[in-house]
Amino acid sequence: MESKVTSNGSASISVGGKEVTLPVLKGSVGPDVVDIRKLYGETDVFTFDPGFTSTASCESQITYIDGDKGILLYRGYPIEQLAEHSSFLEVCYLLLNGELPTAAELEQFTHTITHHTMVHEQFDRFFQGFRRDAHPMAIMVSAVGALSAFYHDSTNVHDLQQREISAHRMIAKVPTIAARAFKYAIGQPFVYPKNDLGYAENFLQMCFSVPAEDYKVNPILAKAMDRIFILHADHEQNASTSTVRLAGSSGANPFACIAAGVACLWGPSHGGANEEALNMLRSIGHVDNIPEFVQGVKDRKYKLMGFGHRVYKNYDPRAKVMQQTAHEVLDELGKHDDPLLKVALELERIALSDDYFISRKLYPNVDFYSGITLNAMGFPSEMFTVLFALARTVGWIAQWKEMIEDPAQKIGRPRQIYTGSPSRDFVPVDKRG
Ligand code: SDX
Repeated sequence: MESKVTSNGSASISVGGKEVTLPVLKGSVGPDVVDIRKLYGETDVFTFDPGFTSTASCESQITYIDGDKGILLYRGYPIEQLAEHSSFLEVCYLLLNGELPTAAELEQFTHTITHHTMVHEQFDRFFQGFRRDAHPMAIMVSAVGALSAFYHDSTNVHDLQQREISAHRMIAKVPTIAARAFKYAIGQPFVYPKNDLGYAENFLQMCFSVPAEDYKVNPILAKAMDRIFILHADHEQNASTSTVRLAGSSGANPFACIAAGVACLWGPSHGGANEEALNMLRSIGHVDNIPEFVQGVKDRKYKLMGFGHRVYKNYDPRAKVMQQTAHEVLDELGKHDDPLLKVALELERIALSDDYFISRKLYPNVDFYSGITLNAMGFPSEMFTVLFALARTVGWIAQWKEMIEDPAQKIGRPRQIYTGSPSRDFVPVDKRG
């Protein structure tokens, strides 16, 4: 990646009796940054920013978020336009390569991904080692990492061709692995991918078809699944993407780095929130119970899952598209009276009119409506984060690739402020109090 930052003046800091001038760098849109790379060398002090609330960890040209305006761009294209007009594989090409593909490029890319969807026959035995009640995310973390045991010919991160084939293999095989995690949990036989189906359609048939009868994917549900994948594809330097970048900065192979991202995404504050949000709606059960639940949030007994965001201090643009998709899917399935949707809509209405949430700029995020849709489509809540990981795999890979190809990239090695014991001598056990 060629750096495109420009100079925008400088900032001075006076600390420890020393004065240092630091360059201020400007990107194409968004906040400027103070380049502090020489700060420690010239002042012997670190910056301190747990949670990285004011820290840019890298330069990137992939995804831009304006949290105040509720804007999300993939390579400059608004998420709303991509969700309406594009397809997940076209968005994969865009995130990986920086430009929308021509028709011929998209056809070639689709052919390549389609012909990598099968996993090694030995791989299927891998699942047998799990208990049937294993959480599908535990299987995903293990299975994605295990890909590096099968594809030694694409683990050299310094080889462009190997980076490309490992990217294609992961985008193609993660749906097959995710579907196997689902089938294993419900005790049904694994279903092979079919090369005559589209990406989302193929995933749904691997999840819901059974050998006992023919299965035709509902095109409305396939389109909704494809759109849900688009919404979850990338999101700047979120926790799991930062995990992938940090793992990749050591030179670890791409499969191991993506497995690290899967592990981080599992957390309830991050990708695990979609599962928690549906469990929360189920526990509320009826709109009459919302006021008591909201009081519990205000009393800090629990958080409103699917609400709030580190960056969005406005409505998450993905949540709007997710809500529309929920209506489409529920209508198509004749479930427009789903009580969970009623609870979600009323909970949103109450929260958005209550000063506790308004003052904290808490709005629905991508996880608030996704669970209702996925539940209606037949996925158990344990599979929701697996679907998030499936979609985010392309974003993790695009960010990992950008990091590897960034000439300024170094191994990530943050420092700390130490408040533990200063040096002291060892005390033999018979002399301890
Ligand atoms: C994702 O980073 C990404 O981009 C992530 C993601 C992606 O695509 O990769 O967008 C996906 O992870 C979406 C977020 C999913 N998580 C949830 O829905 C879980 C519930 N949300 C919260 O845990 C929380 O909002 C976070 C973790 C998402 C953000 O937390 P921050 O930025 O650290 O904010 P904070 O904890 O400092 O909260 C500020 C205030 C606090 O109140 P005070 O202590 O100041 O009184 O808001 C409160 C918090 O208590 N607050 C909430 C709340 N979220 C924040 N109160 C109730 N319910 C919530 N959900």
